[in-house]
Amino acid sequence: MLTTAADFYLIIYLRRRALTGTVALSLLGRHILLGVSGGIAAYKSAELARLLVKAGAEVRVVMTTAATEFVGPMTFQALTGHTVRSGLFDEEHEAAMGHIELARWADLVVIAPATADLMARLAHGKAEDLLTTLVLATPAAVAIAPAMNQQMWADTATQANLERLDEREYLIWGPAAGEQACGDVGMGRMIEPAEIAEKIDASFPGGRLDGISAMVTAGPTYEAIDPVRFIGNRSSGKMGFAVARALVEQGAEVTLVAGPVKLEAPKGVRRIDVESAAEMHAAVMDSIAGQALFVASAAVADYRPADVADGKIKKSAQSMTLELVRNPDILADVAALPEPPFCVGFAAETHDVVGHAEEKRTRKNLDMIAANHVGGETGGFDAADNALTVLWKNGSIELPMMDKQRLAHRLVELICDQFKKPEGDD
Ligand code: CTP
Repeated sequence: MLTTAADFYLIIYLRRRALTGTVALSLLGRHILLGVSGGIAAYKSAELARLLVKAGAEVRVVMTTAATEFVGPMTFQALTGHTVRSGLFDEEHEAAMGHIELARWADLVVIAPATADLMARLAHGKAEDLLTTLVLATPAAVAIAPAMNQQMWADTATQANLERLDEREYLIWGPAAGEQACGDVGMGRMIEPAEIAEKIDASFPGGRLDGISAMVTAGPTYEAIDPVRFIGNRSSGKMGFAVARALVEQGAEVTLVAGPVKLEAPKGVRRIDVESAAEMHAAVMDSIAGQALFVASAAVADYRPADVADGKIKKSAQSMTLELVRNPDILADVAALPEPPFCVGFAAETHDVVGHAEEKRTRKNLDMIAANHVGGETGGFDAADNALTVLWKNGSIELPMMDKQRLAHRLVELICDQFKKPEGDD
């Protein structure tokens, strides 16, 4: 994809503005899918993308073919750090993140500008290109910032489409009145990017954990046998990282103690990398003072080799026996502190999920436990989806199979409900 000279200057202009920009929004870790349709206001969406990235959001841009006639995709790519998608049948992009996955990834879909034609297609539930397909496929809210000639806006067809979209609970931002690119004066200008960014910010509920410190453990632990071998497990760390992100999004200050995983830490998280259970235990105990919440999602190895060989063990004997010793229970140790944080544990159970999880919750003195049913058709360690049964002192709830990030949001909502509950209020 080539950058035109106009795109090049637009990028330079926006980067310069980035140094002097004044908008102080917090969209840390929010996933915004920015749809751009083909109107002259498309160039303003580049400014919107810049503002959203600056506010900490992760922005993915989808352009209609017509939009690429107004602004080159490279402009958005340079501003967001992600390639821009346009076609529905793009094998390379589909392999990286399928369109359904992209639709699920979004916390909010914002279409700016939304042309008269795009509004008509949305109103009729069309799915003939990537953007309209994503709108139908997303569980997230969809906002549109209309932009068109004042006569087109006033036309009864557009107004009827608007009414339909409004009935379907689309968020409709603008348009504004004023002088238009075509020389007309009237309703139809797209509202300014800063105003759209503010509306995006306002569309997310305020943080329920503002000012609260939380610690999360995630991933597996590796227990060394010799310098090249270890005992480990298949935990991917996805659930713990998703919980860390959901906590950040509720305003918490999060420390994430991670075993060996191939995941990027969510934005705004303080990450401590460890390898073994002993290291994880030490890292947690070093920083636990002052933490109000502790979520233990790590799949900590229960045992480690009694001795770690200094050199690589050679295969001389026909068989060998490895003596294992118990690792410290990090969660139990945290829950046993004189002033423990609100403790949430995880449990993997194959049968009698509620019975075993409740026994574990009371034995380890936990405030809450999230149990998942392993085996059968449930999401495994590396799966994108999972289901949980969450239990606390006087209640429980089933969270059905869903994407791990959504599940983490639901779990954090429950944590907020219980953690914030006044003493004795059950
Ligand atoms: N946990 C921990 N430190 C350990 C072992 C477990 O912090 N050494 C935490 C895990 O992060 C998880 C919970 O304790 O939150 C799991 O408890 P555990 O008793 O190990 O349960 P299971 O792994 O389900 O195993 P089992 O049923 O065999 O006891």
